Amino acid sequence: MLPPFSAARTMPTTCVVGILWGDEGKGKVIDYLAADTDYVVRFGGGHNAGHTLVLPPSVAGDGKLVLHLVPSGIVHQHTVNVIGNGVVVDPIHLCEEVAMLRQRGIDVDLGRNLLVSERAHVILEAHRRQDEWAERVRGTGRIGTTGRGIGPAYSDRCARVGLRVGDLCRPDALRAALSALAEQKNALFGSAGLDPLDCDRMFEELCAAGAELKPGIVDTGGALRKARREGKRILLEGAQGCLLDLEHGTYPFVTSSHASTGGAYSGTGMPPHEMLTIGIVKAYATRVGEGPFPTELHDDTGDALRKAGNEYGSTTGRPRRCGWFDAVAVRYSGAVSGVDELVLTCFDVMRGFPLRLATSYKLPDGSVTTDLPAFGLGSVEPQIEELPGFDDDISDVRDFDGLPQNARDYVAAIERHTGLRVGTVSVGPGRDQVIRRDPN
Ligand code: IMP
Repeated sequence: MLPPFSAARTMPTTCVVGILWGDEGKGKVIDYLAADTDYVVRFGGGHNAGHTLVLPPSVAGDGKLVLHLVPSGIVHQHTVNVIGNGVVVDPIHLCEEVAMLRQRGIDVDLGRNLLVSERAHVILEAHRRQDEWAERVRGTGRIGTTGRGIGPAYSDRCARVGLRVGDLCRPDALRAALSALAEQKNALFGSAGLDPLDCDRMFEELCAAGAELKPGIVDTGGALRKARREGKRILLEGAQGCLLDLEHGTYPFVTSSHASTGGAYSGTGMPPHEMLTIGIVKAYATRVGEGPFPTELHDDTGDALRKAGNEYGSTTGRPRRCGWFDAVAVRYSGAVSGVDELVLTCFDVMRGFPLRLATSYKLPDGSVTTDLPAFGLGSVEPQIEELPGFDDDISDVRDFDGLPQNARDYVAAIERHTGLRVGTVSVGPGRDQVIRRDPN
């Protein structure tokens, strides 16, 4: 039925990761691959993510669906969708997202096609408020977070004071854990001049959410290990992108989870095993929030790219910063995540633009590098290669040889400078707007 993702068909586990700073179009690729998958698993992040699917109107009303926490396989009735232990879950948001999906006519059956790890940590109102406060305190050094409480929730997990999803169904333990946490948070909020937490209200809200989610709250790690033993096909859905990875990204301008493939093991409870890793990257580059972005365009071309690509955050609505494709950063992320092949998305957006890509960075001391530095990324000067652009509308092209020569040359330049094969090109948001290349 689908054009073959040849390697995906021979390897039972496939991991899809964003290559730069998120928003690469992972939702569409997951949706595409989920048609042929048994399990779709989120392994990190929370409702800071926004995965957009453009579906046939018969599937979900007006066709466009934005998912924040529920895995993108949910529109395929045969898949089991798993929110893994590495995810931080806002239970109230999750209940709202489930309600939204049901309202759109999508069958969400907790315990059958949606499972939530009992070990996943909970995002509380306290975390959202702490996130907002921390950003205010950082002032000009702010990270530009999504304000969803992600960092504080992961911090509490590391500090071993967090609540886990399984606690939502254990009222005594929940009340005790909530009181202990509120004591700490209220000390902080008090010194910051903020209102204390209303523990009783939070308890009631969390119990209600827990009761609703209960049929789906299980040991997802055990379920996934069993599924693997039975030879089921598992698709791991990365959130954000490798350059937002807490350890390998552009620290401190990162998220607080492990967005590269490393997080796929710890965030699911599956032991390391061979898997196919598909890296998703746009034909240009975008970033939301603060932090270094070597190929960023601060001019009319950047504005034109934003307009052409409708580059506004699907979670916060913020305008995305836009720039040229960065082969240095893509090569680095590809290596960190062990990417087997790239999916190049939003290629149709490049119509009428020059095709430019950074091939190396000039450092302040005058030397040139093809490595991504851990420090001083904001001071590098990208060395840009320019290729002639294309003016044709490529959104209806379905065969790689049907692309204009200049477009094919750009893909070849990307492959040359990143060392990664572009196995698929996406030429529009729709499910069918995909060009799958034959393996070499
Ligand atoms: P946080 O994840 O809300 O803590 O935000 C940390 C950084 O990651 C900020 O720059 C956010 O804009 C960015 N970020 C978080 N989630 C996403 C995403 O799904 N797409 C793009 N950027 C994201």
